[in-house]
Parts: sequence; C-alpha cells; structure tokens
Amino acid sequence: MSATRNRIEVMHGVNLDQLGRRDPSQYGALTLAELELQVSETAAELGMKTRFFHTNHEGAFVEHLHRLEDLADAILLNPGAWTHYSYAIRDALELAGLPAVEIHLSDVDSREEWRHRSVIRDLCIARVAGKGPAGYREALERLRTELST
Ligand code: DQA
Repeated sequence: MSATRNRIEVMHGVNLDQLGRRDPSQYGALTLAELELQVSETAAELGMKTRFFHTNHEGAFVEHLHRLEDLADAILLNPGAWTHYSYAIRDALELAGLPAVEIHLSDVDSREEWRHRSVIRDLCIARVAGKGPAGYREALERLRTELST
C-alpha cells in the first residue's frame, strides 16, 4: 500500500507579504497571515497538510525549491511578479520535480500585457487566477486529485 501523499508546500513570492495594503480591487483585503490561515483550514478539511513559505528574495525562493525533495508532495505557488520573468525560479521548479499549481489572486490575463506571460505555466498541472482567496480551494482540490491517482 502506498503512503498518503498530502503534504502541500504553499509558496508566496515578492510583495505578497504586503497583502492588505495592496490594491484591494485586485487582491482583496486579507493579509498574507489571514490568507494562510484560511488556506490551512481549507487544506485540513480536504485532508491535506500545508507548510507556508514567503520571501521577497528571488534566491531564497529558488533555494527553498531546492530543499523540497522529501519534504513535500506538491507545490502551490504564487510567485507574484516573478511569475512573469524569473527563469531562475522556473529552473528551480523544474528541478523540484513535484506536481505544482500556479495561483494568482487577480485575473492576470485581463490586466497589463506583461502579466499575461508566465514562465512557469507549462511546468504546472494547472493554473488558477482571478478567483481571489477562493481560488486556493480549487487549487488544493486539483492537487488532491493529482496526488490520489
Ligand atoms: C499576482 C499577480 C502578479 O502579476 C503580481 O505581480 C502579484 C500578485 C496575483 O496573485 O494576482 O504580485 O501573482
């Protein structure tokens, strides 16, 4: 019988620690701590375990991805603006080799042109965008399905 795979690493990147101060029409009113609490409760309901990581430093985000082997079964990541241009994060995500879902609070595809591009998109099994905090439930459900197969 295979062991349960339910450990989700939830990773937030640059400027996401400023939620609550950022434009609420794009990002809502929750702080990052409030969002993480909500995500951990949703994950628990779904029978999943969460660990959270945030940094404003690209190299720290990369090094955290390097360390994930054996610590997580899947990744839920919102790299913020790095999504649109960081090949370093893309390479580290590929190296992590875990199922990943890309998430954005705002609807990046209906915003400025430069936000339409994601350099991690093809490495992820799904992308959820524009659904605010509720999108994290959808992303967790997608990962649960992936991990159960
Ligand atoms: C974001 C969208 C990015 O374009 C932006 O730079 C962010 C947050 C989102 O969650 O909507 O910082 O990833």
